[in-house]
Amino acid sequence: MKIVTIVGARPQFIKAAAVSRIIRNKHNEILVHTGQHYDKNMSDIFFKEMHIPKPDFNLEVGSDSHARQTAAMLAGIEEILIDQNPDLLMVYGDTNSTLAGALAASKINIPIAHVEAGLRSFNMRMPEEQNRILTDRISSYLFCPTDTAVVNLRNEGITKGVYNVGDVMCDAVLFYKKELEKYSPDYFFSRLDVLFGQVEIPRKYYMATIHRAENTDDINKIREILKALEGLDEKVIFPVHPRTKPLVKSLYDENNYENILFAEPVGYLDMLYFTVNAIKVITDSGGIQKEAYILNTPCVTIRDQTEWVETLIGNHNILCKPDSQDIIHKVKNTKTDYSNKKNYYGNGDAASKISALL
Ligand code: UD1
Ligand code: UDP
Repeated sequence: MKIVTIVGARPQFIKAAAVSRIIRNKHNEILVHTGQHYDKNMSDIFFKEMHIPKPDFNLEVGSDSHARQTAAMLAGIEEILIDQNPDLLMVYGDTNSTLAGALAASKINIPIAHVEAGLRSFNMRMPEEQNRILTDRISSYLFCPTDTAVVNLRNEGITKGVYNVGDVMCDAVLFYKKELEKYSPDYFFSRLDVLFGQVEIPRKYYMATIHRAENTDDINKIREILKALEGLDEKVIFPVHPRTKPLVKSLYDENNYENILFAEPVGYLDMLYFTVNAIKVITDSGGIQKEAYILNTPCVTIRDQTEWVETLIGNHNILCKPDSQDIIHKVKNTKTDYSNKKNYYGNGDAASKISALL
């Protein structure tokens, strides 16, 4: 089968790393990078360090408003689809690159496989919720990561082509975790590219990431989050997403935080290392909530909802307001119950199941 796969944002490179390796044993895959993420440490580093095949096309759309960015992708993807005439288009997750790929294929009747189908936050204000609902509606193969996702689709009347294959990000964690043994802790700490400040590199730490529009659309929310991190009992390693960087910079200039190590975004292996070894993770990332769950690191998620509801069972993950008191309270006082922990995200064979089903 000839498949055109669309990627564009950081988590999609990680998903493609897990899937491309497997589906290329059976299928002919053409990889299209939309260029939604383009900084070296948001894009190239993953292709290099995770041995993802080089994209056959890069549309280099860059950053723009939702409409302009999605429109540029639509035009570029349509041209490639008409030229390549694949049997199938594959998209991952819920970004603007996902929706653009699905919409371009749907209009010219190319069947769509959506990996990570059926996830819902039930918050239509999120661009991700809009992207995933629209993509699911026009997909022929809906590869769900969990039973919850299958039920969400059923509740919307979507039952045809729906398969729970497990989570491809779980495949990636289990595959790349083994690589960590090759490196010493010094290797990961020495690679941290500190953004500003003079914080000593800690060996006992929390790890934080923040990038969601709902947290970055108001500097007061970031102020509260940083106030909480500054008030924690151990240092915090914070690889800063480019969306968050200008906000963090202006607050750092005002407050000279001393408990937070602000760093450039890190590579995937580094992220796994820091997640495994953190006391707890504080994040609003979808992928990191699951990685923390799989790697047994408790997580505090600064969001009102999560799509990964299984992580909440046993307090492996707990939701939290962007409020310094709430964050500190939940980081300090949440106790995790490991006694009933389950493999909700599969056994690391999601990509093989996808390849076989196709
Ligand atoms: C996007 C996804 C989000 C996903 C996230 C993963 C959408 C609507 N959102 O959000 O679901 O969780 O990726 O990280 O698709 N920027 C750079 N360099 C880069 C990339 C971005 O400087 O390489 C800056 C630009 O100022 C840009 C901003 O980050 O405007 C936001 O980037 P964008 O891709 O629009 O959204 P993300 O917040 O990354
Ligand atoms: N990640 C990374 N380096 C970082 C931050 C995140 O490699 O500095 C990885 C993380 O381990 C996870 C994925 O990127 O696999 C999550 O992406 P992100 O948080 O950008 O998006 P989301 O999952 O929220 O859509």
